[in-house]
Amino acid sequence: MLTRWLARAMDAQDGWVKPLGTWAHGLLNRLFGSVPGVRDVLDGRWLGHPLHAVLTDAPIGILFLVIVLDVLGQSVAADTTLVVGILAMLVAAVAGFADYSDTDGKARDRATLHATLMSSATVLYVVSLGLRLAAGASGSARPAAIAVSVVSFLVLTAGAYVGGDVVYVFGNMVSRHAFRGSGTKWLPMELAETDTHGSIPEGRPIKARLGVNSLVLIREGERILALHETCAHAGGPLSSGELVNGQIECPWHLSRYRMVDGHLTRGPSVYDQPAYEVRAKEGGGWEARRRP
Ligand code: FES
Repeated sequence: MLTRWLARAMDAQDGWVKPLGTWAHGLLNRLFGSVPGVRDVLDGRWLGHPLHAVLTDAPIGILFLVIVLDVLGQSVAADTTLVVGILAMLVAAVAGFADYSDTDGKARDRATLHATLMSSATVLYVVSLGLRLAAGASGSARPAAIAVSVVSFLVLTAGAYVGGDVVYVFGNMVSRHAFRGSGTKWLPMELAETDTHGSIPEGRPIKARLGVNSLVLIREGERILALHETCAHAGGPLSSGELVNGQIECPWHLSRYRMVDGHLTRGPSVYDQPAYEVRAKEGGGWEARRRP
């Protein structure tokens, strides 16, 4: 089947993809980690949605239009559109590299392949533009320039396919709570640990079980704050994170969520975290429910 053959073809690239990914990820992680505010903007925290996914459609559409204009013999329009397409690719790439700086495992391997194909397509488009400018509207080098841009589009399409794998097969930048129900029934909660009085320890993250879900709790006197334990970004265990000014910081990529309501305050996550209400049960113990 075509899908399996393509998956095998992509896996066969691991020999060069993994070392390249380790190097590129380290570089970009340091770069974007030093400017978390910029990374948050590029990831799409302000949008509540991954920005790269929004930006990628534009260059594909624009660069397809270049082929149409070339076929119609509209050389000036085709060349102008190509410049716009290259600029759109560069903008999408910057947002993509911000996402890439927090990828792990197989998603990172696929993202490395995706970035390599997209970078190659961009270089080919720049070569095509150079040939077009050198050839003018009807020079003899123009067919070669057009052929290079058609090859670029094929590489771009392959890169888009691999990029789809990064999201749809490996779940990169997909909310880990996308399929979680929002039932509001009170359920008994089991604490992973208690203080010497058998109650919730104060001032540090504690893990608890609520039916099939795990929660992270913070006790502030009589007030118990609770979020889902699994970080919305990529599944990091929030109960192993740090409490920073009322926010829980994920130990994996350092996203922060307000304990009081689960609002995201720092990326790379772009999603809020499900929040829960906790109350003492009659007869002892605790119960919780997801906030409506
Ligand atoms: S898993 Fe990435 S920030 Fe939590």
